[in-house]
Amino acid sequence: MGKLDDRVAIITGGSGGIGRAAGKKFVDEGAKVLLVDLDERALREAVDAIGTKNATFECSDVTSDDDTQRYVKAALERFGHIDIFLANAGIEGNVKQIPDYPIEVFDRVIAVNVRGVWLGLKHVIPAMAKSGGGSISVEGIGFAIPVNLARGVMKEILEYGHVIRGWIGILPEDYDDEQAGQLRLPHGGVVVANMYRNSPAVDASLHLGDIITQVDGRPVHSAQDTLSQIVVKKPGANVRLHILREHRELDVVVHVIERPNSIQGT
Ligand SMILES: NC(=O)c1ccc[n+]([C@@H]2O[C@H](COP(=O)([O-])OP(=O)(O)OC[C@H]3O[C@@H](n4cnc5c(N)ncnc54)[C@H](O)[C@@H]3O)[C@@H](O)[C@H]2O)c1
Repeated sequence: MGKLDDRVAIITGGSGGIGRAAGKKFVDEGAKVLLVDLDERALREAVDAIGTKNATFECSDVTSDDDTQRYVKAALERFGHIDIFLANAGIEGNVKQIPDYPIEVFDRVIAVNVRGVWLGLKHVIPAMAKSGGGSISVEGIGFAIPVNLARGVMKEILEYGHVIRGWIGILPEDYDDEQAGQLRLPHGGVVVANMYRNSPAVDASLHLGDIITQVDGRPVHSAQDTLSQIVVKKPGANVRLHILREHRELDVVVHVIERPNSIQGT
């Protein structure tokens, strides 16, 4: 018997580091999960890794009311009810002083991290209430608060007592096909747009502008994909980045550490 037998969970940010790990843990404990995220390819990979029997996905932007209604509907149609809502999709934004902070980045952080969670609750709570015969328990609502759930689950998943994620201190960005064409770079690439001071990436002599094509031998197609592969590395391990620098290919091995609580600027 699993702790979550027959429970149905929606996990937003489901193809990211915590979302994917939580999805796996939930399914291992007997639940069925619907992963919600932006990138279909990453979602497919996450579902394949978890096992397609009890995991499925919906490509949705949590900041959109229509998308939110769609993923809630998809969970109900596919699994019949909703018991767990892990509102985990989130972005960090930039690390900058407020006077230098771009307004559009601030707006996006608020849209994803605040509006996205609120929209999820707005549509999930009535669905949960219906599944429970027209009532919703305090535990039910409590379960819908991601931090509590994530904290407990991650303790078990990561065996450290708190959430730990691998970190090397890069801020990668996607570049588009047009830029790739102009610079004669591979399509669908990832560039090291910034690095934190005194970070493992700086220690390993990664350069701004390096193009990351593989992480530990696996091709990467987006900045998100790159970070997702790094966060799941255990602190103390090494990660091998295959990069393109001034049209030369090389491997850079970077020592992975735990993300510091406070990080210095870029
Ligand atoms: N890992 C930690 O130590 C830690 C600490 C504090 C807070 N958090 C928060 O926990 C959450 C998950 O962390 P993580 O390490 O797995 O991050 P992550 O970046 O690996 O995953 C976040 C996921 O959210 C998705 N996402 C972003 N915007 C979205 C949108 N508009 N619609 C749908 N999906 C969207 C991303 O595509 C990504 O897959 C984040 O909100 C993060 O800020 C994590």
